Amino acid sequence: MFRFEGVSYGPLKNLSFSINKKEKVMLFGPSGAGKSTLLFLFNRLHSPSEGQIYLEGQDVADYEVTALRKRVGLVLQEPNLFPGTVLDNIKYGPSIFGEWEDQDAKRLLQYVHLPSSYVNRDAEQLSGGEKQRVSLARTLANSPEILLLDEPTSALDYRTAEEIEDCLEILIEEHKLTMVMVTHNLNQARRLGDRGLFMVNGKIIEDGKISEMLTNPQTNELARFIEE
Ligand SMILES: Nc1ncnc2c1ncn2[C@@H]1O[C@H](COP(=O)(O)OP(=O)(O)O)[C@@H](O)[C@H]1O
Ligand SMILES: [Mg+2]
Repeated sequence: MFRFEGVSYGPLKNLSFSINKKEKVMLFGPSGAGKSTLLFLFNRLHSPSEGQIYLEGQDVADYEVTALRKRVGLVLQEPNLFPGTVLDNIKYGPSIFGEWEDQDAKRLLQYVHLPSSYVNRDAEQLSGGEKQRVSLARTLANSPEILLLDEPTSALDYRTAEEIEDCLEILIEEHKLTMVMVTHNLNQARRLGDRGLFMVNGKIIEDGKISEMLTNPQTNELARFIEE
């Protein structure tokens, strides 16, 4: 689905790898390794200084950027909701494409385990966990094919993080989504992922089945990372 060929940008050095449809990729590694920078290349929040990125064989630079970001959804650590109601937030993306009907809200809120009465709530009044659910629903409203997540639960307490994981686990399965998720929670990586990419200093130094990587690391760097 995605193919990176010799991509460099900022801290990232000459990265080449592919991501297949329906893969659940966990991107992890020390702080400052370049994980967020890499994630933002998928939807053109960054553009490579060298190399190419292909989505289904076509250079992402040739896509219309709004259309690209509809297909490639992003959820950040901070929910950054717009001022207004929950409905205002979740209808925003589809409205741009004339694809919104108010009855869609109920289904979207169900995906993230929120009652449909939440449509009229003021986004600013929600708890951190609720905001992150709405943020996820807002991204899902665009019917993305690939979901990028940058540490979506690391600002939340343990219990709330688990509830978001529950939502994600079901969603990814039901919608056959492709996922690339940055996490530093290895239990979360094991639970939600099937493939791991371990990054250090702007390079992917291990790439494999997540369960095997975590039980049998091939590099000292990963062994040390797991210990910490
Ligand atoms: N365009 C850029 N040019 C140079 N350095 C950058 C650029 N973008 C980010 N960096 C630096 O690269 C490092 C990795 O950033 P980041 O991707 O946020 O790491 P991570 O998400 O793994 O913690 C940081 O030190 C950041 O300051
Ligand atoms: Mg980061």
